[in-house]
Amino acid sequence: AQQLKGRDLLELNDYTPEEITYLIELAIELKRKQKSGEVYQPLLGKTIGLIFEKSSTRTRVSFEVGMYQLGGHALFLSKNDIQLGRGETVGDTAQVMSRYLDGIMIRTFGHDKVEDLARFSSVPVINGLSDLAHPCQVLADYQTVYEHKGRLKGLKLAYIGDGNNMAHSLLIGGAKLGVHVSIAGPAGYEPDAAVVAEAREIARGTGAEIVITRSPQEAVRGADVIYTDVWASMGFEEEQLAREAAFKDYQVNEQLVQGAKPDYLFLHCLPAHREEEVSTGVIDGPNSVIFDQAENRLHAQKALMAALMG
Ligand code: CP
Ligand code: NVA
Repeated sequence: AQQLKGRDLLELNDYTPEEITYLIELAIELKRKQKSGEVYQPLLGKTIGLIFEKSSTRTRVSFEVGMYQLGGHALFLSKNDIQLGRGETVGDTAQVMSRYLDGIMIRTFGHDKVEDLARFSSVPVINGLSDLAHPCQVLADYQTVYEHKGRLKGLKLAYIGDGNNMAHSLLIGGAKLGVHVSIAGPAGYEPDAAVVAEAREIARGTGAEIVITRSPQEAVRGADVIYTDVWASMGFEEEQLAREAAFKDYQVNEQLVQGAKPDYLFLHCLPAHREEEVSTGVIDGPNSVIFDQAENRLHAQKALMAALMG
């Protein structure tokens, strides 16, 4: 825990498997405390700023509520309301905010902005989603799988669809935790080659197997977890129609999931487009744990804030 104090979380590759496991265990402990009504306020008097350059339901609400539960305060800073949106530099923004705040979360487009903010900040910076990565989501995701399966190492996760921020963070997180990750998507929408190479490098040390394929059937075969995400992420809305055509054979539906283990878990970071990337029958079916997963954003980020800012 001590080594996490003062650190940033830009991508999961900054963290060791032990640190990620520690955060998942802490999240489970904080969840237990919260549910038993125990008040736990290690961040009394502390403040986090939440900069949003994209929309959010889960990330905003879970950070605000989580900070409140930990005894601190959270400020919602929309790009439309702060000077960053009018051209004040990231460097100046970071240095000014560091004089007021104990931590900064940013949700933005280019990952370089998250890195710049971290470089100029003297307080911890948390990536609340960039075009490259969504590490907060993946902490909650692997927590959810762990709670339902009782283990992570050696499980197989199949991610079907766009090689986007979610695919990237699931790859890195899976490689760190010894989870085999298979990604299936159409040509032109593969995950970033550098991220795949990095995941394979990490996987060498943990025994995880990383597979990138065109075949959703191959990815899903024997899977313990099936994951999907929207075909057009935030910032790619104008590609919606082209993407619907490209991804039409990549819907997670009743037929595809037959190749998985009977007790497979269905995960989706949400928001979902029902009947696009996933059929209603699967997302609302008995194997779906999407709302446990969404809830865990709260517990995972409380653990993260307590560890980095405590
Ligand atoms: N999963 C996720 O990050 O949701 P929001 O976009 O609603 O924050
Ligand atoms: N890939 C999606 C995730 C949303 C939580 C996006 O970036 O829009």
